[in-house]
Amino acid sequence: QFTQLVDAYGRVASDLRVSLTDRCNLRCTYCMPAEGMTWLPTDDTLTDDEVVRVVKVAVERLGVTRIRFTGGEPLLRPHLEQIIAGAAELRGAKGRPELALTTNGLGLDKRIARLAAAGLDRVNISLDSLDPVRYAQLARRDRLHDVLASIRAVDEAGLRPVKINTVIMRGVNEVDIVPLAAFCLERGYELRFIEQMPLGPTGEWQRSDMVTASEILAELGTRFELSALDEPRGSAPAELWSVAADDTQPGGRLGVIASVTNPFCGACDRTRLTSDGQVRTCLFSQRETDLRAILRGGGTVEDIVEAWTGGHRGKAKAHGINEAGFIQPARTMSAIGG
Ligand code: GTP
Ligand code: 5AD
Ligand code: SF4
Repeated sequence: QFTQLVDAYGRVASDLRVSLTDRCNLRCTYCMPAEGMTWLPTDDTLTDDEVVRVVKVAVERLGVTRIRFTGGEPLLRPHLEQIIAGAAELRGAKGRPELALTTNGLGLDKRIARLAAAGLDRVNISLDSLDPVRYAQLARRDRLHDVLASIRAVDEAGLRPVKINTVIMRGVNEVDIVPLAAFCLERGYELRFIEQMPLGPTGEWQRSDMVTASEILAELGTRFELSALDEPRGSAPAELWSVAADDTQPGGRLGVIASVTNPFCGACDRTRLTSDGQVRTCLFSQRETDLRAILRGGGTVEDIVEAWTGGHRGKAKAHGINEAGFIQPARTMSAIGG
C-alpha cells in the first residue's frame, strides 16, 4: 500500500519537514538581514487545506511517520492548531504520525495548551544566548524574556523532551556555551549546539567563522565531564554526550549537530516541503518538485505520489559542503525550513 520514498543510495525517507512560512518575527544575524527578506507572495503559499492534503499523501501513501513543522517561524501561521489537528487525524505506517515543531518560541507560551490539545507531541526551541543584551544583538529583537517563558510553558505542558537549538558563531556567542549547558542541565532540557551551515542570507558563510563541534566540545570540557553516549544514533543529526553530575549541577545529556565537520547524510531519512509547495530532497538540493502546480492544476493523489517519488530518486548522496565547487542553494534556511 505504501510507495516508499527511496533514493538511488537506498535511503528511505520517513521524516517530513514542512515549512509553513518563510516569514519570521526575529532577524537572527546568521539567518536574515535587518530589513528581512523578500517574502514569498501569499498567493504562492499553500493554504491550510493544501498543506494537510500534502501531509496526508506523505503519511497515507509514502510511509512518512514523523512530521516536523518549521518556518521561517511556524507560529506565524494563524491556524497552526488546525493544521496540526488535521495531521493528527492521519493514520499511516506506524499509526498516527509523530508531530513536532521547531520554533523561536515567541508567543508559544500562550498557544502551547491549544497546540498540545491539537496533537503536537514535541517542540524544539532556538536559543542562542542567555544574556539579554547579546540575545537582542543576535536576534535583533529584545525578546529573551518571552522565549524563556515559552520554554518553561512547554516544559510545564509536559511535552518532552524539551530540545533547545543553539547556533554558535565565532566571536559572538562562544561565551554562552557553558552557561547554556548549565541552564539546560539544571532543567532537564536537551541542548544541541549546531555548526553553522552555508544557508545564510547573502552567501557570506566562511568556513573559518564556523565554530566546529570539536571546538564546542573543548569549551564544554573546561567545565563539564563529558562522555560519548553509546545509544544507537539512527538518523538523528545530533551526536549525544552524557554529562556527569557534580556538586553544583545535575548530570544529563547534550548534543552537537556537526552537519559540516561530520555530516550525517549517509543515514538521512528526510524529505522537505516548502511553504510554496515545492518538495526538496535536501537542505542543499538545487532542484525542487512542484507539488503546488499539481494541487492547483486538478492533479490526483497518484500524480503527487508519482512526482514526489520520482523527485526523491534524484536525491544527492551528500550535501557537498566540504567539496570543491559547492554552491549554496538559491533558497536560504528561512525559506527551506531548518
Ligand atoms: P529531533 O528529531 O528533535 O532531534 O529534530 P532535529 O534535530 O532533526 O530538528 P531541528 O528542527 O531541531 O533541527 C536542528 C538543527 O539540525 C537545525 O538547526 C539544522 O542546523 C540541523 N538540520 C535540520 N535538518 C537538517 C538536515 O536535513 N540536514 C542537515 N545537515 N542539518 C539539518
Ligand atoms: N546553520 C545551522 N543552523 C541554522 N539555523 C538557522 N540558520 C542556520 C544555519 N545557517 C537554525 C536555527 C534554528 C533552526 C531552525 O535552524 O537556529 O534552531
Ligand atoms: Fe540529508 Fe541533505 Fe541534510 Fe545531508 S544535508 S542530512 S542529505 S537533508
